[in-house]
This record gives sequence, structure tokens and C-alpha cells, in this order.
Amino acid sequence: MPSVVIIGAQWGDEGKGKIIDYLAGEADVVVRAQGGNNAGHTVIVEDKKYAFHLMPSGVLYNDKKNVIGNGVVFDPEGFLKEIDILEAQGVDTSNVMIDERVHVIFPYHKKIDALEEDARGEDKIGTTKKGIGPCYMDKIERSGIRLGELLDREHFKSRLFSQVARKNKLIEKYYESQGFDPQEIFDTYCGYADRLKKYITDTTVIVHEALVEEKKVLFEGAQGTLLDIDLGTYPYVTSSHPTSGGFCIGAGVGPNMIGEVIGAVKAYTTRVGSGPFPTELHDETGNLIRTKGNEFGTTTGRPRRCGWFDGVMVKYTSRINGLTAISLMLLDVLSGFDKIKMCVGYQYKGEIIHHFPADLNKLAECKPVYKELDGWQEDITSIERYEDLPENAKKYIKAIEEYTQVPVKIISVGPKRSQTIIREAIF
Ligand code: IMP
Repeated sequence: MPSVVIIGAQWGDEGKGKIIDYLAGEADVVVRAQGGNNAGHTVIVEDKKYAFHLMPSGVLYNDKKNVIGNGVVFDPEGFLKEIDILEAQGVDTSNVMIDERVHVIFPYHKKIDALEEDARGEDKIGTTKKGIGPCYMDKIERSGIRLGELLDREHFKSRLFSQVARKNKLIEKYYESQGFDPQEIFDTYCGYADRLKKYITDTTVIVHEALVEEKKVLFEGAQGTLLDIDLGTYPYVTSSHPTSGGFCIGAGVGPNMIGEVIGAVKAYTTRVGSGPFPTELHDETGNLIRTKGNEFGTTTGRPRRCGWFDGVMVKYTSRINGLTAISLMLLDVLSGFDKIKMCVGYQYKGEIIHHFPADLNKLAECKPVYKELDGWQEDITSIERYEDLPENAKKYIKAIEEYTQVPVKIISVGPKRSQTIIREAIF
């Protein structure tokens, strides 16, 4: 089955964008199926830097179909800005398709996201304030507005006015803040709809046809497994399913249509936002990883929390996604360390455990049990073949494979397309 899923197998920001971009070169169709413009991928091609939020990464190639599937929450303002920036950079965006079912993010979603974060005080989730959670709330509550609805002006007006009236009550009475003028939103969004019309379609048909015709379909994950609303570190999660199963729902495909499932995994661990993080480093080593790895958010610019590779976590994310391969990212960042640590168990109440606890209080009490490996000093950023990596780098990769029981098929040694070692063909 020539279809490949790429998901983040940690807390997001694993560098998926680069591998997605790399494999998109071989794909016919690239599909996003969850999340929204809370995501941030940076892709570097011939020293040009492209930042993606909502746009599928295949857009940099002229001959790919780029699908934004039904499971996405869609911010028209953000999307059109992205289109404008890409077009100004000379990228052709005519091959983009957006499913008519995507739920639309409105200004009140963003405002409620921010107000709710403030109201949570110390317990804040650390959301991107892009309105993701409130938009998914409306979807689940069955009051959300879908993109296709914007094309019927009269219908849209009545739906929007009724939604704004409800949201204003919440914003004004509960949060004691200022509500919205529905007419203003209507006029703005009608302008967006005019520009978006040409992209809107039933993308489930396009994806299905491609799969049936055995075309190469690349399912592009956003965020990471531990941010999954069900299987992640709840409540410090996003509101969608950034797991392999999320593609079935978010793109309308059956599980039997999914072939390879690749987990993008950093050679260390990072996290943005709040919540327990067993291998987090609060010392100079953590700072060094942050600086060398340029660990600052693409969407928010926030410094990311950094720590050693957590095998227990990746074993868990591998199990719940059914990973068939690991793409090991940012290995070059670990060059120059005398010793490298890898977490191979948690100590919990005097016992060593190898499963990732669902209970966050329990996770917060887990202390990492480390395997210490010798590091390597060589610069590996121009190495093209696995065999040419320093012996200690190979030992580190082997240790990851042995602990997680998943083969490392791709290794990334720098941000450029060319800095990618493929050990086994993917498509
Ligand atoms: P939301 O998705 O904006 O609601 O944020 C919920 C949580 O997911 C917060 O901890 C965010 O920092 C995190 N998050 C959302 N998108 C990303 C991403 O693309 N990478 C990493 N973390 C993310």
C-alpha cells in the first residue's frame, strides 16, 4: 500500500516538516487531517526558509495535490496570509484543496481561548491562543460552522448571527469582556469565502481515488502523539488526534488504506506549554540543547523545554500509533557531548516501570532511569550514509531501536533536504 503516515511521536516539534517535505517529493498527494494553524513546520530548500502552519508541505512541489482534510479546524485569515506569503515567495498554491467539512475558526474562538487561559491562572494549558480548543468544542457540541456553509450567504448569516449572540453572552456575562459585532465578522468572512471558494471541495473523494489508483499518498501529522486529546498527557494536550488513527477520521479513509506509519522522533525531547516532563533538564545541558537545536516555537516563538531522549515515552507512542519506522531527527544537535543519556525506565515508588503512566500525578513522580552512552565529537551534518556516521552515533541509534523495538529508517543530520540519511526506501 503506497500510503505513508508521518506523525510526531513525542510532544510535537519533532522536525516532521522536514521529513514530510522530503517524502512529499515522492508523493502524489499530501494530506493534513487534524489541528489547525497551531502547528508550525519550517522547511528549508536551497537556503530559502518556508514556515507552514496550515498548509500541507507538498505545496513546495508543483505537481502534488495538497489536501486539508475534514478533521482540520480552519482559520481563513491565517490560511490566506500563508497563501500570500508563499505566493510572494514564488510558490504556486493552485494545487491546494480544502474539505468543505472543516470547521471554521472565528474571532470569538480566539478570544475565548485567551480568556479561558487567563481564567485558568496557574493551571493554564499554555495553548497557542489560535482558537483551536474552542472551535473543536463547537464541533463536538454540534454548533460549529463548517467551511462549505460560508458559500451560502443567507444560511451563513443566520448561523453566524445566532452563534455570535451565544458567544457574546458567554464573553460579556461570564468572562466580563467585550463581545463581537456579527455584521463585521460576516462581512470579513464573506470576503474570505470569495477568495477560498476555488479551494473548497469534498477532499475525501480525492484521497480515496488516489488510494484506489495506488497513487502515493502522504498523510502529514501536526503536533505530536502526547498532545492527543485521548492518548496524550491530558489535560496538557491539544484538542485533536495527532495519532495515526486520527487520519482515518480526519481524512475519511479506512484503516486498511494506511501502509507505513513513521514516527518522527527527536534525538532528545522537547515540550512547549505546561505539564510533567520526566527527562527535562533545568541545567546548562538543557540550555545547550535549546541553543544548538534552535528550540524556539515556529508559531509562538516560545523557548521550548528540553531534555534527554525518553525511551519509555517513545515505546508508548510507538505502541499506540503502530509505528513501523522511526525517523530520528536532529541527531546533529547531539554532536559534541562527552556523554549522552537515554531514559530506559522510570523509577516510581521504588519500582522500575517501563510503561508511560496515564495519570499525570504519577508521571510527575516518575524519575528517569538513564543509560549513559559515550558521545561523539565529529560534525555529522554532511554525512550521507549510515555507515559513515561515528561509531558512537550508531551505538546510540541501535540503543533506541533496541529499547523501542522500532527500526530507525531515516536519520536527519541537518535542516536541509540533502541532510537526510535514508536507510530503507519508504514509498
Ligand atoms: P492548542 O493546540 O493551541 O490548544 O494548545 C494546546 C497545547 O498543545 C499547548 O501545550 C500547545 O503548546 C501545544 N501545541 C499545539 N500545537 C503545537 C505544535 O505544533 N507543536 C508543539 N506543541 C503544540
